[in-house]
Amino acid sequence: MAPVYDSIAEQFKKVNSLPFIQYVTTYTYLNLIGDVAGKSILDLACGEGFYTRLLKQNGAARLVGVDISSEMIKLARQEEEKEPLEIEYIIADVMEIGFIENFDLVVASFLLNYASTKDQLLRMCQTIFANLKPGSRFVTLNNNLELPPEFYHKNEKYGLAKSCAGSLQEGTPLTITLTISDDGEKVSFDNYYLSKATYEWALRSVGFKEICWHPLIVSPQGVQKFSQEFWQDSIDYPYTIGITCLK
Ligand SMILES: C[S@@+](CC[C@H](N)C(=O)[O-])C[C@H]1O[C@@H](n2cnc3c(N)ncnc32)[C@H](O)[C@@H]1O
Repeated sequence: MAPVYDSIAEQFKKVNSLPFIQYVTTYTYLNLIGDVAGKSILDLACGEGFYTRLLKQNGAARLVGVDISSEMIKLARQEEEKEPLEIEYIIADVMEIGFIENFDLVVASFLLNYASTKDQLLRMCQTIFANLKPGSRFVTLNNNLELPPEFYHKNEKYGLAKSCAGSLQEGTPLTITLTISDDGEKVSFDNYYLSKATYEWALRSVGFKEICWHPLIVSPQGVQKFSQEFWQDSIDYPYTIGITCLK
């Protein structure tokens, strides 16, 4: 079966211009990642390379992007052709790829929530750990596992809908629907619920320490443009969270 993102690759490019992504998730993610100057970075589930390019433009020495979707990587390579940044892109399943090289930092925005079982999550974490130098960090953004479904609607005003059939159990599919343009165009895909305890177990099992869960923060520009009040639900009912840990 073709990876899900093959069919929505073009549409997904529009997601990163949503105000929520611009002023909240990207701002939070870059804050967690910190200074990248001179670092070698592996970007897992890099998609069409939005963050991969941003990190290279922010001064990283080397960037390798990996994604299971050949269509997403095709778009990333097209950008690389238009404006070469010397980023290397690989089409592969994170659960299968294993060791590439020792990186100073591994990032992966919205990878782990594609694991539908404990075993899949463990295999993703094994790849992440295997590619990090000792003393280096893994930084990720993830679907917020702890937001109860009765509050999912709180993020709809940001163009972010989420639904699940029935109660949240290990492996329950979550349908994410994002409104990606002013005329109401939507893109929809599934990821999976696994508990925070399962994430902690998988990260710890492969050897990670100092596992921290981070709330979203709104950029000053976002507050200026839309007001603090507008963003308050994104803070009180976070759609997304950050995770960092240390090898
Ligand atoms: C929501 S997109 C995020 C893309 C990018 N990280 C971003 O934040 O813009 C999720 C990406 O994960 C990729 N993906 C899902 N499961 C994967 C796996 N097992 N191995 C590699 N990539 C995977 C999908 O193909 C898709 O491009």
